[in-house]
Amino acid sequence: MSKICLLAHAKANLTLDVLGRRPDGYHELESVMVPLSLADFLTLEKAPRISLSSEGPFAAGLPDPAADLASEAAALLKSWTGYAGGCAITMRKNIPLAAGLGGGSADAAAVLHGLNRLWDLKLERQELLNLAARLGSDVPFCLLDRPAVARGRGEILEMIPAAALDLVLVKPPVPKSTGAVYRKLNPDRMGNRPDNQAVVRALALGRPGALTAAIGNVLTPIMSGDHPEIGRAAQTLLDCGALAAGMTGAGPTVFAIAENRSKAKEIVALAGRRLEGCEIMEVQTLPSPRSLSG
Ligand code: C5P
Repeated sequence: MSKICLLAHAKANLTLDVLGRRPDGYHELESVMVPLSLADFLTLEKAPRISLSSEGPFAAGLPDPAADLASEAAALLKSWTGYAGGCAITMRKNIPLAAGLGGGSADAAAVLHGLNRLWDLKLERQELLNLAARLGSDVPFCLLDRPAVARGRGEILEMIPAAALDLVLVKPPVPKSTGAVYRKLNPDRMGNRPDNQAVVRALALGRPGALTAAIGNVLTPIMSGDHPEIGRAAQTLLDCGALAAGMTGAGPTVFAIAENRSKAKEIVALAGRRLEGCEIMEVQTLPSPRSLSG
């Protein structure tokens, strides 16, 4: 095999709770996470050195290729295993950047998974997950690519049974720095905490309506305090018929939960007219495999 093609799915944090600040500066999380149908498309080809090129709707804002997390993932795997060759990575970027949708983490996870096969490294799942955690807090989830509750820094993953959901994503044109958002959080005074157990139950039963009162993200008041566009996007989605609206990760993307796919399309059409300058799209969450959801 000299070439491999992969999808790198975006993620959404349906909930995000912080249980406290850790001595290493990170925060102890409890977050219900789901992979999305929205994905970057990656091609990996054997080559003498590691290189990266990108194209597609969101390629323009990417950092220097050598500094991209996908290149870092390839370099980490090469140094960890002592593999002599390299790879040419081509990415079609369909996931908005710096959005809270885990695009960079998804690409890095796909590179780890893909190169393990392309380079015939035969690394075990757990070894790949450990390398993923070194690259970033969301990379292990992206490698798992299944609905899960994430704990610890984000690397302790409990798979959960979950039906698919129809979502609408809105990304306002707002800059973000995940680190800066976490630094502003006061773990002793947090609003908007989720009921994670209720969310897990609602996902298992496939009842989107039961998510309305249960979702929450403790980072929302910080981001929407600095950027009122976020609250406006959430309110517009609710006004257009969403069952619930929340922010994913450290934002700024807002997701709306729709009753079904035709309702989601209707929300996109209605809200799209009112939310100028925002990226807006309809997506599905990827369900857990049958063996889990029963
Ligand atoms: O791990 P990652 O590089 O994605 O994290 C970006 C930043 O988000 C960290 O530098 C840290 O400030 C913050 N963070 C945190 N607690 C977590 C995950 C991320 O404080 N569990």
